[in-house]
Amino acid sequence: MGYTTEDEWNAHYRDGRSFRPLGDAERALIEAHLPPSPGALALEVGCGTGELARHLVATGYRVDAVDYAEAAIEAARQQTDLAAAVTYARFDIETGEPADLPHHAYDLIVFRQSFAFVRDRVRVVNRLRERLRPGGTLCVITPVVANVPDHKRDIALDDGEIGLLTADWHHVARFDAEGLAFIVLRDPRLLRGLPAGSDAGRKPLAAISRRQPSDSDDGM
Ligand SMILES: C[S@@+](CC[C@H](N)C(=O)[O-])C[C@H]1O[C@@H](n2cnc3c(N)ncnc32)[C@H](O)[C@@H]1O
Repeated sequence: MGYTTEDEWNAHYRDGRSFRPLGDAERALIEAHLPPSPGALALEVGCGTGELARHLVATGYRVDAVDYAEAAIEAARQQTDLAAAVTYARFDIETGEPADLPHHAYDLIVFRQSFAFVRDRVRVVNRLRERLRPGGTLCVITPVVANVPDHKRDIALDDGEIGLLTADWHHVARFDAEGLAFIVLRDPRLLRGLPAGSDAGRKPLAAISRRQPSDSDDGM
């Protein structure tokens, strides 16, 4: 199963390791479906060593890239030109205060190979959708259960989990990126029954939250 603690991620990055590099299909989908408007600002959550953040800058975004693993942020900074329009920050998307993100709101919020590791996905998505600018996009690029071996199930989403992620958006598009699901969400539906600004989920959290850890092995 996948890593479950910040320490495990830190050890991975301190060993000089990274994860599956950005592929041609992902680059093509980004170009086709996430074109930046002038001055567009993106937030990448769980940025690892920053490859996607740097790619988004190359396409025209300014990017805030966050990860809760300090070693990831250190590696990402080392690999990024000082002049590049990326602001890296250590930030835990589950426990951090959204007000502590580098900017208040974003045109694009993206998770790449990181959303499956979020435990309370309803709460995290409900908080982040409030950080989207009008017309903004949430993009989740994720391994899917059908394409990973059983022992790596926890790094991936199944169709039910993807259905819960996409349920409260007017615009939903899903593409295949060489085995990864590339999910584009726009125009969030109003969450009825929630007071304005609430981050309480209205679905049973156990139904969507990540499975609990058992024996540990490598992360991906
Ligand atoms: C599999 S790696 C993917 C890294 C990068 N996005 C990539 O595609 O190479 C998942 C990343 O999510 C980060 N992560 C996991 N849980 C997190 C959390 N609660 N807050 C912020 N980052 C988190 C990990 O530290 C790790 O760097």
